Amino acid sequence: MFKKTLMSEFFTTINLNIFLRTLSFLTYKLPFIRYGKYVENLENGFLWYIWNFDSRIISFYNWRSAIYHSLKMIWVTKNDEVIVSWYTCVSVSNAVIQSWAKIIYSDIEKNNLWYDLKKLKQNITKNTKVIIVQYTFWKPNNIEKIIELAKDHKILIIEDCAHSLWSKIKWKKLWSFWDFSIFSIGRDKVISWITGWFLIINNQKYFNKIDSIKEKLNMPPIWLTFRNLFYNIVAYKSYKLYDFFSLWKMIIFLSRKFNIITEILTEKEKKCNFKEFNYKLLNSSAFLAFKELQKIKLTNIYKISIANYYNNMIDNKYIKILFKEEKQNKNNYFRYPILLESEEIKKELYHYMKKNNILLWKSWSGINIVPEWVNLTNTNYILWKCLVAENISKRILILPNHSLITFKDIKKIVQLLNNFKK
Ligand SMILES: Cc1ncc(COP(=O)(O)O)c(C=O)c1O
Repeated sequence: MFKKTLMSEFFTTINLNIFLRTLSFLTYKLPFIRYGKYVENLENGFLWYIWNFDSRIISFYNWRSAIYHSLKMIWVTKNDEVIVSWYTCVSVSNAVIQSWAKIIYSDIEKNNLWYDLKKLKQNITKNTKVIIVQYTFWKPNNIEKIIELAKDHKILIIEDCAHSLWSKIKWKKLWSFWDFSIFSIGRDKVISWITGWFLIINNQKYFNKIDSIKEKLNMPPIWLTFRNLFYNIVAYKSYKLYDFFSLWKMIIFLSRKFNIITEILTEKEKKCNFKEFNYKLLNSSAFLAFKELQKIKLTNIYKISIANYYNNMIDNKYIKILFKEEKQNKNNYFRYPILLESEEIKKELYHYMKKNNILLWKSWSGINIVPEWVNLTNTNYILWKCLVAENISKRILILPNHSLITFKDIKKIVQLLNNFKK
C-alpha cells in the first residue's frame, strides 16, 4: 500500500516552494494572478541570466505561440519551407503547420540526436526559409556547421532551447548563436512554471516587429489561469501521495476528466489543429519562474551529480548510455536518455522497472513525433523516410534525474538496471 513509486517525469517538477507559492496566488495574492510587475522583471532577469543585452525578448504563454509568431514575423508563406528535426514534439509540428509554412522533416544522427548534416543539405531547396535547430534533451546540436550552411543559402535559424537552458558549447551558452532562440519555462522543462516561453530576437532586422507582436497578445482567460494554478496543487500532491490508496490517481483522473487542470497537449494539438497562439505570459507564472531561475544552478548541479553516478555505475550489456562522453560541467542534464538494443528489450526493461515501482519516462519513446498517441497523418510525416529517428525513438527510455529524487533512490535504480536480464 505505501510502496513508493519513483517517476522519471510527470509531476516531478513541482517542488514544495512552487506548491506554497501557488497557494499564495490562490489566496492573498489572488488579484495578481494575471496582471502585475513580474513579467517585466522576469524578462529583464532572464536577459541578465543569459548575459545578453544586445537582443530583445518577448514572453508568451507557451512555446507554440513563440514559434508561431516568429514564423509570422519572418513572413512565411505557403511556398516557404521550414526544416524541423524528425525527432520532435507534435507542438512544434502543429505551430509550423499553423503558420502556413510547409514542414520538412530532416533525419538525425544516431549518437547525438542532432541533424545529419548530409541529409540536412539534401533537404534544403530554394524555398527553405528557416531551420529550427533543436537541442534534444539538452545536447548541443552541430550549430556552427548549420550556421555556415544557413549563411550560404540565406536561411534563418531558430534555436529551440526548450531543453537546453544552462547548456554550453565550448564556453558559449546555447542561445543567440543566430537569428532567434526560444526558451521554455513549461511544466516539464528545465525550470518549470506550467506554461511560459521567451522568444529572444538576436537579428536586429526584426527588432521593429516587436511592438506589433505584443499588440496581438491577450491575457489568457481567467478559468485557464486557474487551471494552471490547480495543476501545481494536483501535481505536487500526486507525486507525494501517488501510492496512498490510489487516492491521488483518482484525483488526477477526475481533474483531467472535468478539465480542472491544464494538459501539456490538447486534443487539437495531437491532430495538428490547434490555433490559439495569442496569449501573454501570466504574472503568476512569471513570479514562480523568476524564483526557480534564481536557483537553477543548484538544481542543475544536483542533476549533474545524478548523471555522473549513472555514467559511472550503470553496467549492463543491454543498456547504452547516450551522451556519456559529454563534459559534465557544460550541460544541464535535463534528461538522461538510455538506448536499448531493441524495441522488445526496451519494453521488457520498462515493465521490469515498473514491477519494481519505477516508472521510466517514455513520452519521447515509441514514436519520433511525440507523444505516442499523435495523429501522424496530420503532422505531414512520411513513415519509413527517416529511419534513424524512427529506430532511436523505438529503443529509448529516460531515467529519473530530477530534484525530487534522492540518492538512495538513484542507487536502487542503478542496482535494478544492472540486474536486468532478457
Ligand atoms: C523540443 C521541444 N520544443 C518545443 C516544445 C513545445 O513546448 P510547449 O509545450 O511549451 O509549447 C517541446 C515540448 O515538449 C519540446 O520538447
